[in-house]
Parts: sequence; C-alpha cells; structure tokens
Amino acid sequence: MVVQELLFLSKQAVFQPPTAIRGGIPVCWPQFSDMGQAKTAHGFARNLTWEIEQQAPDAVTMTLVHSDATLAQYPHPFKITLAVVVGEGSLTQTFTVTNTGSAPMPFTAALHTYFRLHDASAAAVRGLQGVRYLDSLQQRKEVVDVESEVTFPGEVDRIYCNAPDELVVADGDGALMRVAKTSFPDVVVWNPAAAKAARMSDFGDDEWKEMICAEVAQAGSGPISLGPGEEWAATQVLEVVNS
Ligand code: BG6
Repeated sequence: MVVQELLFLSKQAVFQPPTAIRGGIPVCWPQFSDMGQAKTAHGFARNLTWEIEQQAPDAVTMTLVHSDATLAQYPHPFKITLAVVVGEGSLTQTFTVTNTGSAPMPFTAALHTYFRLHDASAAAVRGLQGVRYLDSLQQRKEVVDVESEVTFPGEVDRIYCNAPDELVVADGDGALMRVAKTSFPDVVVWNPAAAKAARMSDFGDDEWKEMICAEVAQAGSGPISLGPGEEWAATQVLEVVNS
C-alpha cells in the first residue's frame, strides 16, 4: 500500500501551546482572522489543548470549554466539539458550538485545512466561479471571481462569501480532492507565496510550493449569534477523487 500525505504539516511547525500548529486543520474559533472581539488572530481554539471525549480506531471526538483565560478575551461560556471520522480516502469533521452561558454569543469560524500538493504553482481550486470574495490583499475589497478556477501565480488570500457546498482542489499533477461542506457558508483560499513565507518563522521558505489552504468558514457572511443554550453544527468532508 502506498501511503501518501494529503494534509500539509510544516517541517518548522511548533507543537507547544499557545503556538498554533502550522499545518493539518487548525480550528479557527471564536473568530476567523480579526473578525470578532478576541485578541488572537483566528481566535484561541487552535492555541489550546483540547480534551479527548471519545476515541475509536477510525474516529475521535475532542472538546474545548471556556476557562478564565478565554473569558478574559471572549466573555462567553461555551463548549465546542470537533468530531473526526476517517474513512477510506475520506475525512469527515463535524464542528459543534454550544452557548453554555446566559447571553447571546457571537462567533465566526473556519476549519483551516492545509492541503499538501506536489506543485502549488500548477494547482487550482474549482467551484468558485461567479462567487463574490473579499480580497485580503486589497483591504478586503469586494471582487466577483470570473475565472473558472483559482490559481496560485503568487500570494492569494481571499474570503469567498456564500460559496457553493462543493469544491475541488486540483494538484498540479492531476490529483483531485473534493471538499463538501454543510452550514459553513464561506470558503477562504490562501497561499502565502515566497515573500510572506519568508516572514513566517514556523514555515519553511519554500514550503508555499507544497500547500494551499482551502478553508470552510463562517467569515465574510458575518457572525453567527447563538442564544443561551443554543447549538450550531457545521461539517466538512474531504474526499480523494479517484480518476
Ligand atoms: C488565512 C488568512 O486563513 O490564514 C491569511 O486568510 C493568514 O490572511 C493565514 O495569513 C495564516 O494565518 P496564521 O495566523 O496561521 O499565520
């Protein structure tokens, strides 16, 4: 059996909280980027140690609840859960947010998937033609994407709003991954390219050639506000497409 890594992990990733791990699928919560009131970019969930609630050979459920440290920057009691199931050629994640407090709880979020590719400069993300995006490289200017696919000739950093629920990530060598989402309205597409890579201490200078991020998100469409006791769940399924 040939084992092939489909998710990217930087050789320079730091496995020491509160540093987020540069690779895999970090959970951005309670905010994507700066879209919320927390001080930390992409929120704090990716910087903290979660508890394992349930474990099986092909599945794991992890949880994180509020603490004094989280309440200091985000004054909301919460429980978040990530359930991961590994199938043959697929990975399913269900992300659940519960407001365990007594006031409305606003949040934005993303599952920040780092896809490992052979050649990002020849890669593409398909399924976003005609979708409006906020270009983070131009102060979040609104643009409608007229192209049939997103390509990576240089740095790309876009928040697509109300994107279709199915996308394809195509590697330069022809390999395809399908991304299917439910309840995450948005999709973020990112590759730092050479100059930004050189500024990132936990990322190799050339590693931008081996990855792109396609992130299912609740971001450009605005925050969710959960009432006391309410729960919100969203999923993504990553699937290898056999050609
Ligand atoms: C992406 C953002 O989701 O994450 C980018 O759109 C950002 O703007 C990237 O640079 C990485 O963020 P961080 O905080 O992990 O360096």
